[in-house]
Parts: sequence; structure tokens; C-alpha cells
Amino acid sequence: MHKIAVLPGDGIGPEVVAEGLKVLNALSENYSVKFDFQEFDISSERYLRTGKLVTAEDMDQLRKFDSIFLGAIGDDRVRPGILEKGILLALRFGFDQYINHRPAPLWRPFGRLKRDVDFNIDVFRENTEDYYIGAGGRVNNGRGSLDLHVKRHLYDMKVRLEANADAADDYAFEIGMMSRKNIERFADHVIAFSNIIGENYITVVDKANVCSNIYSLWREVWDEKCKKAGKGHGYMYVDAMTMALVKNPDKFRVIAVPNMFGDIITDLLAEVTGGLGLAPGGNINPEGISMFEPVHGSAPKYKGMNRINPVATILAAKMMLDSLGHRDLGQVVQQAVRTAFDQGVYTQDLGGKATTTEMGDAVVEAIRKAK
Ligand code: NAD
Ligand code: IPM
Ligand code: MN
Repeated sequence: MHKIAVLPGDGIGPEVVAEGLKVLNALSENYSVKFDFQEFDISSERYLRTGKLVTAEDMDQLRKFDSIFLGAIGDDRVRPGILEKGILLALRFGFDQYINHRPAPLWRPFGRLKRDVDFNIDVFRENTEDYYIGAGGRVNNGRGSLDLHVKRHLYDMKVRLEANADAADDYAFEIGMMSRKNIERFADHVIAFSNIIGENYITVVDKANVCSNIYSLWREVWDEKCKKAGKGHGYMYVDAMTMALVKNPDKFRVIAVPNMFGDIITDLLAEVTGGLGLAPGGNINPEGISMFEPVHGSAPKYKGMNRINPVATILAAKMMLDSLGHRDLGQVVQQAVRTAFDQGVYTQDLGGKATTTEMGDAVVEAIRKAK
């Protein structure tokens, strides 16, 4: 029995999560796997009602589960950053999910490139540091100090910033930071993954030509780790990387990328594979509780229309199965999605006619037939 915490979240989150659960239930009806789902209302609605984001009690409850299955967080009625940082990032950091694995295989015939080029990329995005540490603030009239605090499982750090500008203006800071131990454990994981799939080269992305303080540490660790592991690696600046992912995605297999650039290139790459509706992700803590969700957000304008694509979330459920030790069932889900597509069932974002629920039904049907 796998205990799964289900957080439908905001916008289209509940609709896509419902289809993911349909698929997991179809598996438990047809195979010897059982889930105990418990739903949590950790969402914008709860925030608007009670002012609560992720509370200490929520964390204590969630700690009792094997995995977390999340829809999306984000709501136009709330100022940007409140929910995203207060819920989504709080969960990623709180459970020390330092790896964000976002697979990006081409989904034929939906690839968006004019040229028919095959590719299968696994992006590993660092998930707890970089420009996501939440350390920043404003200094008004050019003078002032900021007391910053960054708390992670690896450290609890205080930073004080004194500003004294000779021009009285308002200044805003957003500070990036990386720590050696975190880069090391992240690199270890990516190298281990590339060993498992038999890939001997890792493309490491950054912007070391400009942000040379933060990314020289990043490179130092990658050089050391890859040398020790006998793994080939090379660097790409993120600007050139965006170009290359459109021009020749087939040149890449495993990509390692800092948090902020990883956010950006995984939306781009999702579009290249066929669209955000197809892109899943796992926030991974190899020794702890991982959280699975689509790469896309809450897409508020499509809420409640039964129109958007649930496949990204169904594939996030597939990643969750893999991480729970059911790679065989993960494969069943992947194949069932393929079968549904081959039968001509797909949603509007892919040029099809299926509704959200019809798409989920078709995947469930394919699972039943495959048995
Ligand atoms: P978004 O990913 O929600 O949507 C962007 C566009 O992508 C949509 O308008 C739609 O055209 C398309 N799209 C997304 N999901 C789709 C699906 N399943 N099927 C078909 N088309 C799909 O990005 P946004 O509009 O920038 O953000 C909306 C909110 O979601 C914001 O509050 C943002 O902060 C939040 N967000 C949350 C997460 C998350 O929870 N992991 C991720 C990204 C954005
Ligand atoms: C994502 C999202 C989040 C991120 C936001 C909503 C905090 O864009 O999961 O890609 O930047 O990681
Ligand atoms: Mn994103």
C-alpha cells in the first residue's frame, strides 16, 4: 500500500489531478498495486479563506506519506509569489527535494519543429538554490540594510547586506546563491542517472560568462565530480542552449541546469516535444519524500472548461510509480498514453477534439485492454 498525499491545488490543477488518479485507480484494479490517497486542501482557496499557506501542521501531516501528487499552484487573485513561494517552493524546500527531473521525449506526431528530428532528453534542474533562495529586498533612497535568511536542510544561513549608494533611488536586490555540498549531491544524482541509462556525456548549462561567482563554484564541482566518475561533460551558456534546443535537440541526452534557467528551458523544451500539456516533472529527494507534478501551472483561464490536457499529470503519476519501485507499471502508463494517441484521442492543445475527461478515459481504457 502506497500512501499518497494528493494536492489538487489551483486553476486546472484539480481537473488534471482527477485524471491522474483515474489512471492510478485503473492500475490498482488491474495489477497488484494499492494506493491510499488522502487529499489536502493546500491551495489559493484556502489561503483566501484563512490566510494559510503551507503550515507546520501541513508539513507534519505530509511527512507521513510516501509521495506527494500535486496539480498546480497559482491564482490571479493573489499577488505573484505569495502562493508560489508560500506553497510550491515551501514544499520543495521543506522536503529537501533538491532535484527536479523533467523528462522531455519527443511525442510524435506532436513535436513543434518543422524538421522531423528525434530526441529524448532528461533535464535535471537544481531545485533548492540559485536565484530561488528568496533572499532579497529593497533599499529605499539608496541607504539601508537587509537581514536575509536562507534555511535549507543542509544549512541555516544569515546574510546581512549593507547598502550605501550615492544616488538616492530605490534599489531592489534578488541574491543568488549556491553551496558546494548541494551541487555535489545534485551532480552525484545526475551522474548516477546517466550511468543507469548508459549515457556518458552530460551537458551542463549556466551563465558563467556573466554570473561568474555563482557559476564558477557550480563548474568547479561539475569538473571534479565528472573527472572522478569518468563522465564526459561540457558547458553551454543558457542563451545558446535555448537556441540549440530548438535547432538540434537530438544533440542532447542529459542536461544539468541551475534552478532559474532550468525553469525557463523546461517550458521551452516542453513546447518542442509537443507542448506543456505533455511535460511531467518530479521534485526528488532520493532519501525522502518526493513530489510529482506537471511542468505547467494552473492556467487559470482554462479552469473548469474540461478542455486542457491531463497527460502531463498522468505522466507525472508515471514518474511517481517509477520512484515507488513500479517501473513496470510506469511503462504500462506510458504505453497507454501512446496507445490513446495512436487511436486519435488527444486534446485541443495538440489539435485534437478530446476533452480532459475523455483523454483520461482513453488512457484508462488502454490500460484495461493491455491487461
Ligand atoms: P501555465 O503553465 O499555467 O500556462 C501557460 C499556458 O500554457 C496556458 O495558458 C495554456 O495555453 C498552456 N497550458 C498549460 N497547461 C496546459 C495543459 N495542461 N493543457 C493545455 N495547455 C496548457 O503558466 P502561467 O499562465 O504563466 O501561470 C499560471 C499560474 O500558474 C501562475 O500563478 C504561475 O505562478 C503558476 N505556475 C505554477 C506552476 C506549478 O504549480 N508547478 C508552474 C508554472 C506556473
Ligand atoms: C515550475 C514553476 C515554478 C518554478 C513557480 C510557480 C514557482 O514555474 O514549476 O516550473 O519556477 O519552479
Ligand atoms: Mn516553470
